[in-house]
Amino acid sequence: MEEKENLSRSAENADEARVGEETPKKHSGFTSKIGFVLAAAGSAVGLGNIWRFPYLAAQYGGGIFLLTYIVFALTFGFVLMIAEIAIGRKTGKSAVGAFRALNKKFAFIGILCSLVPILIMPYYSVIGGWVGKYLAAFVSGNGAAAATDGYFNAFISSSWQPLVFFFAFVTVTFVIVLLGVEKGVEKSSKILMPILVVLTIGVAIYVMTVPGAGAGIKYYLLPDFRKFSIKTVFAALGQLFYSMSLAMGIMITYGSYMKKDAKIESSVHQIEIFDTGIALFAGLMVIPATFAFSGGSPEQLGQGPGLMFVALPKVFESFGSVAGGVMGSFFFALVLFAALTSAISLMETVVSIVIDFAKLSRRKACVVTYAGTLVLGLPSLFGFSIWSGFTVGGMTILDMFDFISNSVLMPVVALLTCVFVGYIVNSQTVIDEIELNGPFRKKRFFNVMIKYVCPICIAVILITSVLNVFGIFKL
Ligand code: PFF
Repeated sequence: MEEKENLSRSAENADEARVGEETPKKHSGFTSKIGFVLAAAGSAVGLGNIWRFPYLAAQYGGGIFLLTYIVFALTFGFVLMIAEIAIGRKTGKSAVGAFRALNKKFAFIGILCSLVPILIMPYYSVIGGWVGKYLAAFVSGNGAAAATDGYFNAFISSSWQPLVFFFAFVTVTFVIVLLGVEKGVEKSSKILMPILVVLTIGVAIYVMTVPGAGAGIKYYLLPDFRKFSIKTVFAALGQLFYSMSLAMGIMITYGSYMKKDAKIESSVHQIEIFDTGIALFAGLMVIPATFAFSGGSPEQLGQGPGLMFVALPKVFESFGSVAGGVMGSFFFALVLFAALTSAISLMETVVSIVIDFAKLSRRKACVVTYAGTLVLGLPSLFGFSIWSGFTVGGMTILDMFDFISNSVLMPVVALLTCVFVGYIVNSQTVIDEIELNGPFRKKRFFNVMIKYVCPICIAVILITSVLNVFGIFKL
């Protein structure tokens, strides 16, 4: 009864609740099912798939990481995405409002969700700046230089260059968000994103034919169970949340704009297949290239965030200088575009949080978000140059931001979401929402996962991961 009341109240206040939620607002009730899938997939696909997934897979054992990731996507990913979209559609609100509407005492889960985009946005923009730098290198005919060993490290450790590209990336995102011209960006993304997908698959196929790539394909696709470690599990779980935009309120907001006649279960399958497929091909592009062009030593595979930037220029260079220059420019332009669309949706989310909490006008909230992103991004940026001496548990500052959001905050939010859905509002509430238009085929699986398997596994992974980093529990 109380819940019903809350929900009808929430409907009355729908406009108020949605203030500032510009990203989904522009879809204003997705007109088609495919419209929803494309919008949600557009948020999910970004640097996480093309930059982050390949370097984690390379670092954490190749095939065994891929296998762990796929198992997580089919279990935790499926269950959480279903739950978040259903919560959003049922309440018609974004994270804070949605949790509050279902149970006032649990609005704090929504607040925790909101912290994630605030943490990700600054360092996402640092990487966006790196992509900008590589685009500039290829466009200005310096692709050959970009393909040389040491280029990447020289770039990130220089004091001013990454700063300029980071500043440019954040500023472009800010201007688009401030002027509210995301519609144009979104229209272009319907054309550009499929091209990026085709290009990624094309480059992956080409790389696989280069002599020496075979060892990389084997490393990436064949799970070697001796390489399995608890770190593979931590990395795969954090990557799942990051890549599918889960445990950060994004899918709740998208769900709030989904029509009641759209099928949640099949939409989730489509988003998952799309997101995982792109990550899979990005890995097939980057990892075999690391073997074919750099030998695939453990140091190269374990280099972390720089992997894509070191591996891909060598691939383009192998096309010859003209074709390589054109392909490199084209490819990095598309990756930059994908990074920008994700950054826009991240900034929109942060702006709406600032509006809600600080009760600022949209314009002021945009400026505060812009300034905050610049300030918070600087430590990540300088962590590779003037502050490179500062590390925690061997992590650079950027890795630390990444760790706090992906390995601590998101698992906490995911765990709380499972407990909330499983025990506080009861999983039947979500099941009813999904069954509004047809049977929920994986209902029993969902029920068992959300109540028992997911919360227990996530809690264990979370605790071991944190203890491990602080050296309390060495693995
Ligand atoms: N899921 C995106 C990626 O894989 O790059 C990251 C992201 C984009 C997270 C947009 C959140 C968001 F709002």
